Amino acid sequence: MANVTGVVTIRWDVLPAKLAEVRRLSLYPFKPASTDLDAEMTANLEAVFGGAFRGDKPIGCIAVLPESKHDCAARIRWFGVLENERGQGVGAQLVIAAQQHASAIGQSLWADVRVKAIPIYERLGFEPLGDFFELPEIGVHRVMRWWPAGLRS
Ligand SMILES: CC(C)(COP(=O)(O)OP(=O)(O)OC[C@H]1O[C@@H](n2cnc3c(N)ncnc32)[C@H](O)[C@@H]1OP(=O)(O)O)[C@@H](O)C(=O)NCCC(=O)NCCS
Repeated sequence: MANVTGVVTIRWDVLPAKLAEVRRLSLYPFKPASTDLDAEMTANLEAVFGGAFRGDKPIGCIAVLPESKHDCAARIRWFGVLENERGQGVGAQLVIAAQQHASAIGQSLWADVRVKAIPIYERLGFEPLGDFFELPEIGVHRVMRWWPAGLRS
C-alpha cells in the first residue's frame, strides 16, 4: 500500500473475535465493550471479515455478508479504521479487499454508508441509490452499490 505510513497488511477471512475491539473502537466508541455488541458479528455464520493490521495489531475492519437487497447479493458492514490510523488509505484498501472478495465469487455489493465514507466508496466505483437517511445514534447514511465487471444485468 503505497500511501500508508509504515507496514500495514490487509488480511481476508479473519476470525471475527480478532476484530471485535477494533470494530467497536472505530465504529461505536460511544458504546461499552460487551458480548452483546460482539454477538452481531457472528449472528450470520457466512459473514466474512477483512482486517487491516499494523504488525499483529488490528487497526481496521470490514465485513461482507450474504444479505441480498437493492438488487445486490451481498452487504458490506462494519467498515472502520482506528481514529489515529485514518487518512492514509487504509479504509480504501479495506473496501478494495471487499471488492476483490465479491469479484472472486461473482457477487454485487451494497452498503448503508455514513456520509463521511461516501467519497471513498465513490472513488472505488460504487453508485448511490435513493435519498439520504438517518440511522439512530450514528447519523446520515446513503445506500451505495457496486457490481464486479461484467456482472451488472
Ligand atoms: C470511514 C473510515 C473507515 C475511513 O478510513 P480511512 O482509513 O481514514 O480511509 P482513507 O484513508 O482511505 O480515506 C480517508 C480520506 O483520507 C484521504 N487520504 C488517503 N490517503 C491519504 C494520504 N496518503 N494523504 C492524505 N490524505 C489521504 C482520502 O482521500 C480520504 O479523503 P476524503 O475524506 O476526502 O474521502 C474512517 O474514517 C472511520 O472508521 N470512520 C468512523 C466509522 C465510519 O464512519 N465508518 C464508515 C461506515 S460506512
